[in-house]
Amino acid sequence: MTNEQYYDLIKPYEDARRILYTRLEILNHSLYRDKRTLGPVHNTQSRVKEKRSIEEKLKRMGLKDSIFNAKDSLQDIAGIRVICYFVEDIYNMAGILKRQPDLVVIKERDYISHPKPNGYRSYHIVLGIPVYCLDTMEYFPVEVQLRTMAMDFWASMEHRVCYKKNPDNREELEREFRRYAQVLEDIEMEFEAYNERKGIKMEQEKRIQENE
Ligand code: GTP
Ligand code: MG
Repeated sequence: MTNEQYYDLIKPYEDARRILYTRLEILNHSLYRDKRTLGPVHNTQSRVKEKRSIEEKLKRMGLKDSIFNAKDSLQDIAGIRVICYFVEDIYNMAGILKRQPDLVVIKERDYISHPKPNGYRSYHIVLGIPVYCLDTMEYFPVEVQLRTMAMDFWASMEHRVCYKKNPDNREELEREFRRYAQVLEDIEMEFEAYNERKGIKMEQEKRIQENE
């Protein structure tokens, strides 16, 4: 893949990322109730996959490095990570996104109710974002990872220490990281006591359900 081909490939993914990023910001504002009950989002990060990562991932998948294969096989060229305060916020945000009628749910993985064997927890949802261009419209996938701060802390450390690497003490490390995941989940549950939104359905959720 030449640099020029890469920049042509990522252009619409970059547009899709920006559109969804803005929509998430708006959603967070609209779920902000008052000074005591802030919006559900602590912070948001986003990126478009670098050329080298695209090439490496295609290689790992046993695919030839081509624009066609990248578009056809990679759903995480554009990615947004939404760090929420509470687990409940994650499910609320995911529910609202899934009900927005112009977005398409391409893939969904709930690693919160079903953590990975190493302890990884997060809610993944790949959304098709409509990108309009002159007289055409095409959906481009954006991978959204919703997590709490504790899940993000764990995932960042695990990524740094072992993700996709092959350390000699892999099993021992996995055992340790499973334990860290449990400790963090316990702390997360204790923090739930401070969730002033608990039990109160978010405004938008409530309105949607009333209209159903
Ligand atoms: P990838 O090929 O890595 O994209 O995985 P996948 O297509 O099977 O999807 P999956 O939902 O398992 O993972 C997508 C993304 O979630 C990864 O690219 C990571 O950002 C994150 N992720 C998944 N599993 C782990 C994990 O065990 N540790 C960490 N740190 N991140 C993970
Ligand atoms: Mg990925």
